Amino acid sequence: MPKKTSAIDMQENISLQPYTTLRAPVRARWFVALDDASELPDLLEHAPGSQPPLVLGEGSNCLFTRDYDGLVIRVTLEGIKRHDLDDGATRLVVAAGENWHRFVRWTLDQGLAGIENLALIPGTVGAAPIQNIGAYGVEVESCIASVTAYDRNVREFVELAREDCGFAYRDSIFKQEPHRYVVTAVSFDLRKEFTLHLDYAGLRERLATRGITDPGPVDVADAVESLRREKLPDPALLGNAGSFFKNPVVAGETAAKLRAHHPDMPAFDTPAGTKLSAGWLIEQAGMKGYRDGDAGISDRHALVLVNHGNATGEQLWAVAAKVREAVRESFGIELEPEPRVY
Ligand code: FAD
Ligand code: EPU
Repeated sequence: MPKKTSAIDMQENISLQPYTTLRAPVRARWFVALDDASELPDLLEHAPGSQPPLVLGEGSNCLFTRDYDGLVIRVTLEGIKRHDLDDGATRLVVAAGENWHRFVRWTLDQGLAGIENLALIPGTVGAAPIQNIGAYGVEVESCIASVTAYDRNVREFVELAREDCGFAYRDSIFKQEPHRYVVTAVSFDLRKEFTLHLDYAGLRERLATRGITDPGPVDVADAVESLRREKLPDPALLGNAGSFFKNPVVAGETAAKLRAHHPDMPAFDTPAGTKLSAGWLIEQAGMKGYRDGDAGISDRHALVLVNHGNATGEQLWAVAAKVREAVRESFGIELEPEPRVY
C-alpha cells in the first residue's frame, strides 16, 4: 500500500531480490526510488521502521541475511554536468544513480582518460566512492575531485574533497560510517592526455594477444572487459557480489612465515603491509567450487560467493562463515567480507 511521507510515494513490503545481485529472497518493510535529491532531508527525517534508512544503488555489493525493517532508498538520480578547468582537466559532476560502466564508456567516447581500468565494474557512480572501487591497478580515488552527500549528522548537503574521504583499499569514511552519508553526486577530473596503467597481471599479455602494440584508453577498457568476462561470473546469470572477501593485508613478518611453508603463495608489498591473495588462500583451503544447496563458492574464482538459484541470505552467509573458518584453520588468516552485510 503506497504511503506519502514527503512528496515521494513509498511502497511497503517490497522484495529486494531483483534489486541485489546476490538475489537473496528478503523484503524491505518500506522502499522508495529517489530521483530528486531535494527530497532526501524530508525522507530521512521521517523514515519509518525500526532500522535506519538504508541506501541502495544497484545492489551489487551487499548481502541481505534477513528482512529489512526500515526504509530502503534506491538512488536513481541522473545527470552529468561538464566543465573545463583552467589546468586542462575536464570536471564531470555525475549524479549518484548513473550506471558506473555506462559512465566509463561515455568518458571514453568523450576522449577522456583515467578510469578505463575500471570498466565493467557493476553498480552506480554514487557507490563508487563507498569502497573506493578498484581493479587492474587503479582505484577510483585517483580521479575523484570531491563527493557531494547529505550528511545525516549535520542535516545538510556537504561537499567532501578527496583528501577528506578517507580513501584506502576498499575503504572510505562512507564505508566506515555506514548510515551517515547519502552520496548524491561525485565529481571527477579526467584528461585527454593519458598515462596508461598496464602492470596488473595479464593486462599487457591480453593487449598483445589482441594484436595491440600501441594501446590507448579504449583498448585498455576492452582488454579489461575481456579479462573480467573470463574470470568473473556474470551476475545476470549467476547471483554474486564480486569478491566476497578483501585481500588480507598482513605484517611482512606474517607473510614471510607463510611463505616459508608455501613458496608459491602470491604476495604483494603495499605501503600498508603485505597483501595476500584471498582467492589463493580459499582455493588452497579446499573451498573453491564448494556448494551447500544453492549457496556456494564459484568454481571459476574462489573469491566469489554465488547463489545458484534459491539460496537464502542466511545460507549464503553460512557458506561465507565456512570459508573464513577453513582459511583460519589452514593459514591462521582472518578474512574480512568486502560487501556490506545486513
Ligand atoms: P550497492 O551494492 O547498492 O551498495 C553498496 C554499499 O554502498 C551499501 O553499503 C550501500 O548502502 C552503499 N551505497 C550505495 N550507494 C550509495 C549512495 N549513493 N550513498 C551512500 N551509500 C551508498 N568492486 C570493486 O571495487 N572492484 C571490482 O572489480 C568489482 N567487481 C565486481 C564484479 C562483480 C561481478 C560484482 C557483482 C561486483 C563487483 N564489485 C567490484 C563490487 C561492486 O560492483 C561495487 O562495490 C559497486 O561500487 C557497488 O555499486 P552498487 O550501486 O551496486 O552499490
Ligand atoms: N587466485 C587463485 N584462485 C582463484 C582466484 C584467484 O589462486 O580461484 C589467485 C591467483 O594467484 C591470481 C590471484 O589470486 O593470480 C589474483 O586474482 P585476480 O586477478 O582475479 O584478483 P583478485 O585479487 O582475486 C582483485 C579484486 C577484484 C578486482 C581484481 C582485478 C579484491 C578483493 N578483489 O581480485 O575486485 O576486479 O583484483 O583488479 O581486491 C571486487 O572487489 O568485487 C572485485 C571483483
